[in-house]
Amino acid sequence: MSSFQIIVGSMLGGTEYVAEACEEQLNILDHQVNLHLKPDFTSIINETFAQNTTIKPVWLICTSTHGAGDYPDNIQAFVSDLTNCEQDLSSINFMIIAIGDSSYDTFCKAGYKLDKLLKTKGCIELIEINMLDMSEDIDPEALAQKWLKDKKDLLQ
Ligand SMILES: Cc1cc2nc3c(=O)[nH]c(=O)nc-3n(C[C@H](O)[C@H](O)[C@H](O)COP(=O)(O)O)c2cc1C
Repeated sequence: MSSFQIIVGSMLGGTEYVAEACEEQLNILDHQVNLHLKPDFTSIINETFAQNTTIKPVWLICTSTHGAGDYPDNIQAFVSDLTNCEQDLSSINFMIIAIGDSSYDTFCKAGYKLDKLLKTKGCIELIEINMLDMSEDIDPEALAQKWLKDKKDLLQ
């Protein structure tokens, strides 16, 4: 079992549904899950480190991209606090579901930027970033759930 903090960046609400689908799937896989629709860095850090140290802490970032490759408004403070954080975060594992539209040059750029930032903070990437392209006729909730199911052995 791992302990997940699902951290959501969403402007129009679509990514919130994907995050809720992930929460449901992770519960089925028997993990502990906290969902953060309005991510507050301090609370997320407290919940991450409040866990029993034998349980693997994982951050699952679900974020869309807006503007021209920008973060959604609701996750900007989290990103800024993460950027300025001097605490040792090297015990945190992470994985990212980036939601975007490939008709933009800046396809899924918010997810990419967070991927890079978390690596510079020493966090461990559990699984390579998963990009979901909303320009295609897809069911992003089902795809995200399938991805978690397919990778379940890496999440233990
Ligand atoms: C004003 C606007 C700007 C966008 N900019 C980008 C972008 O730069 N890169 C990208 O991949 N997708 C971009 N998108 C597509 C969104 O990421 C996509 O529609 C996503 O599903 C929105 O998720 P949300 O409802 O959680 O905010 C943009 C969408 C809008 C409406």
